[in-house]
Amino acid sequence: MSIIKNDFEKMNVTKIKKAKNNKNLTMITAYDALFAKLFEEIADIILVGDSLNMSFAGKPDTLSATLDQMIYHTNAVCAGAPKAFVVLDMPFGTYINKDEALTNAVKVYQQTNAAAIKIEGGEDKADIVKHLTSNSIAVMGHIGLMPQYVRSEGGYKVRGKTEEDTQQLIRDAKAIEEAGAFCIVVEGVLSDAAKKITEALNVPVIGIGAGNVTDGQVLVWSDMLGFFEEFKPKFVRHYLDGATLVKEAVNKYRDDVQTRAFPSKEEEY
Ligand code: KIV
Repeated sequence: MSIIKNDFEKMNVTKIKKAKNNKNLTMITAYDALFAKLFEEIADIILVGDSLNMSFAGKPDTLSATLDQMIYHTNAVCAGAPKAFVVLDMPFGTYINKDEALTNAVKVYQQTNAAAIKIEGGEDKADIVKHLTSNSIAVMGHIGLMPQYVRSEGGYKVRGKTEEDTQQLIRDAKAIEEAGAFCIVVEGVLSDAAKKITEALNVPVIGIGAGNVTDGQVLVWSDMLGFFEEFKPKFVRHYLDGATLVKEAVNKYRDDVQTRAFPSKEEEY
C-alpha cells in the first residue's frame, strides 16, 4: 500500500491549477469501467487517451481513432469512476478548425461526463484552444512529442534537443496557456527543456518522458502495469509485471480445466 497518506479529493480545473507548486499531479490513462474504478480514488486525473487506439484496438498509431470511439470509452470510464476528473483526448482530425473543434467538443460535453478535453498542438493550435475556452470548454494542452503528428513528421521525435527547439516549445506552451488551457501535457522532451517550460508557465505541466522536473506525471496504464510486452520505452517504469501474471494465471486455469481440477464441488450449483 501507499506510503503517502492521500485522502481522495475530487478534482476540478480550479484545484488542478492550484496544484502548481503545491502538489505533484498523478494522471493515468483508462479506457474501460473496470480499470477506471480501480484508479478512481488514487489518480488525480484519468485520461481517456487516444493511445487506446494502439493498446486497446491494436492499431499501429493513434491516428485512426474516431470521436465516437473516444465517447464510447469515456462513457465507460465515467460509469466506472464517477468521482474521477476525466479528460477525453480529442482524436486526430476532430479539431482542424475552430468551428469543427467547438462542434465536436460540445458533442463530448453533451454525450459524456468528461470534465475536459485534451488537444495536441502549440502555437499552431492556440486560436482553436482560445475559441474552445471562450465557449466554456475546459482544455488540457499537449505539446512536445505529439503522437498525432507521427505520420506528418515521419516518426516519434524527442524534442528540446537544441536551444532553438526549446525556445519554440516555450512559445508553444505559453501560447496554449494564454489561450486558456488549465494544464499542459509535455511529452518526450529533454528534462532541461521540460524544466524551462515548467518554470515559464503558471498552469501545471504534466510530463511523460520529460524527466522529474514537471508538476506531475502521466503514464499509459497498460505500459506502467507491464501489459505491453513488445518493448518498454525508456521513460516507462513497470509497477507490475502484468503480462507475466496474467499468462501464469491463464496457464493455471487451462491446466485445471484439462486435469478437471476446476470446477470443484464448492464451485458447483
Ligand atoms: O493518448 C494518450 O494516452 C496520451 C498520453 C500519453 C498523454 O496522450
